[in-house]
Amino acid sequence: MALDRSQALAARLRRAGVLTERAWLDAFEAVPREVFVPRFFTASGDGWRAVSAGDDGWLDQVYSDQVLVTQLDGDDSAWERARADGPVPGTPTCSSSMPTIMAIMLEELRTGDHARVLEVGTGTGYNTALLCHRLGDANVSTVDVDPALVRTATAALGRVGHHPECVTGDGARGLPGSAPFDRVLCTCAVSAIPPDWVAQTRPGGLIVTTLNRPIGAGLVRLVAEEGTLAHGRVLAKDGRFMPLRAHRLADPAQLLSGLQDAEARETRRTSLPVSAVLSPSSPLEFFASLELEGVLPAYSGDAGVVYLVHPDGSWVRHAEQHGKLVVSQGGPRNLWDLAEQARVRWRKLGKPGRARFGVTVDGDRQEFWLDNASSQHRWQLGSVL
Ligand SMILES: C[S@@+](CC[C@H](N)C(=O)[O-])C[C@H]1O[C@@H](n2cnc3c(N)ncnc32)[C@H](O)[C@@H]1O
Repeated sequence: MALDRSQALAARLRRAGVLTERAWLDAFEAVPREVFVPRFFTASGDGWRAVSAGDDGWLDQVYSDQVLVTQLDGDDSAWERARADGPVPGTPTCSSSMPTIMAIMLEELRTGDHARVLEVGTGTGYNTALLCHRLGDANVSTVDVDPALVRTATAALGRVGHHPECVTGDGARGLPGSAPFDRVLCTCAVSAIPPDWVAQTRPGGLIVTTLNRPIGAGLVRLVAEEGTLAHGRVLAKDGRFMPLRAHRLADPAQLLSGLQDAEARETRRTSLPVSAVLSPSSPLEFFASLELEGVLPAYSGDAGVVYLVHPDGSWVRHAEQHGKLVVSQGGPRNLWDLAEQARVRWRKLGKPGRARFGVTVDGDRQEFWLDNASSQHRWQLGSVL
């Protein structure tokens, strides 16, 4: 039964074009996701509803191509409360990621059959089990910051016959005692690449992670060189993950509430839809994110209104009024002028999409560049915490 379902999920990922390697297809077919997600949450109105093994539709959800949230606010009692009293509020702090993004990242890791891999973000252990199936338990080390998650994942891995090295710790530090690794795979998102990952990856080895950016998040793959030097590319395939704890962003709702009585410096028409800047499917989005470093989208709940806010107090209100696009801006910088200038510059550069950008990591000095590492077009990646 579980086998049929995991085979069906694997076949679906193959048809979608995200699973192409026979060995990863075998892993998705063989590893039962249900063992790793006996309980999870589904979004329900303003809160999260508790779902348990055996509930109607549980197995359908387990084997769907969906992210399954398994922890809120690091609080392991939230699930019981939601089960007893109905939906609870909270921010997800652990999930079994969407199988599509797992498949994309595993393939982008280019492991072959024998690579030694460090996984950062054990979570439920499902992805760890896929790695173990392909590479053998002795080649897999996994680390999570939350000891309860590590205990539960280790037990679930044991139930499907896998015994990799499972460690509680801050994954941003890597696992120095088990290094060097051929590959580092991070299943949460980072604001910048932890230099320890580079130092613990063999020269020529690969690091695959998602970047935690309010606009223009996505996947990168880096090739480690000597010491803490690495070069890589932003990948065409996109992926958004919950952040590594400590790599969280400013809270846009809080920034928005600080603007209650803010006076606009100007209000005017614009020809630039806010979706061109914010939508992951917009070809401008990644470039705009570089030019609008640190800017976050925020939503007041008013239909057709989107804010862009920055911790320096700059803000934009973008609204559709009677079929026209109208922006108001205030604070120290005119953020919407920057967005419009970004579109002009992007057009002059030949409308580069995300795959034309790369990343250089040299310890704490980390930069994006356009087309090649010596390009004059460069942007700071973010700060290493
Ligand atoms: C999206 S989940 C990982 C999904 C997991 N790979 C799976 O298959 O279930 C993200 C995980 O990252 C972990 N995490 C967050 N910050 C971390 C840190 N500093 N070091 C290690 N793990 C961290 C969280 O506890 C959470 O379990």
